[in-house]
Amino acid sequence: ALQPSAVACGKVILFGEHSVVYGQPALAAGLARGLTLHATPLPRPRDAIELSIPAWDLDLRLTPDSEHPVARACLEVLAHCDGPVTGWRLEGEARIPCGAGLGSSAALTVALARLALGAVVDGEPDLDEVIAASMIGERVFHGTPSGIDSAVAARGGVVAFERGAPCQAVALGASLWLVVIPSGIPRQTGALVAGVAARRDRMPEVIDPIIGALGQLVHRGRAALTGARLDVLAELTSVAHELLGSLGVSLPMLDRLCAAAVEHGALAAKLTGAGGGGCVIALCDTEALARGVIEGLAHSFPELARAPASAPFAVE
Ligand code: MEV
Repeated sequence: ALQPSAVACGKVILFGEHSVVYGQPALAAGLARGLTLHATPLPRPRDAIELSIPAWDLDLRLTPDSEHPVARACLEVLAHCDGPVTGWRLEGEARIPCGAGLGSSAALTVALARLALGAVVDGEPDLDEVIAASMIGERVFHGTPSGIDSAVAARGGVVAFERGAPCQAVALGASLWLVVIPSGIPRQTGALVAGVAARRDRMPEVIDPIIGALGQLVHRGRAALTGARLDVLAELTSVAHELLGSLGVSLPMLDRLCAAAVEHGALAAKLTGAGGGGCVIALCDTEALARGVIEGLAHSFPELARAPASAPFAVE
């Protein structure tokens, strides 16, 4: 049997996208209740698991011969957790979009691992086991994932990441609210990472210091978060967006969204993740301010009505 329901966080990278590829550290934050999965037994014994997440346009039958990567990833997670692989319906409620660099695949595999492992231990399963099970699924999606998405999806809060070292939880000195603004522009992470590599090949002595500076922002950003210096965090966030722009991964639309978020009251805003589309995050120090940013953006960018800014996420 499975647990009746389980949650997982989405994730945004606060600092360190792209530079993390070159061995620099990164800082990411969980988006609470990014995905909630509800499990109910199918009325008659069936040879499959049904998975439906309407917000992601996902409606799948998971069967052993399924080629769909989501089905394969989910079945591998369930098998790893000694969970049932037939006879259940899983219904997902998502607060984050999929395929927008917000860790949707890690959220799915973490919630699924919680459903399966929670049933085995009859309660809240061990965090490291959940993360390990999620990584099995993430490997199906992404080959050799760093593990930051799974760690943030399972833990929430703010997580510091460095290649080859365990993730560390970062305690916040002040409350922080994030507005996540999808640009609606699709992008390919691999192509953007390759574009940065090509620019670096053309002018390493120019690009390497930028990568180093992005890494330094992680150290300063971590200190600002723990020291409750949201004014400093805001300045670092703007610098991060500009440096990412100089790597060639911003777009006029992302720059416009950042500027508009600040006009409507955000402390600062930056692109998050690979760039080239995807999402922008706006930092706010109160929920009321975050709601004002969302309203203001909806007004300024009616074309975003189909993919509006998220409700504010509290980062704890
Ligand atoms: C994408 O979310 C983050 C990048 O740094 C790529 C990666 O770390 O694999 C752009």
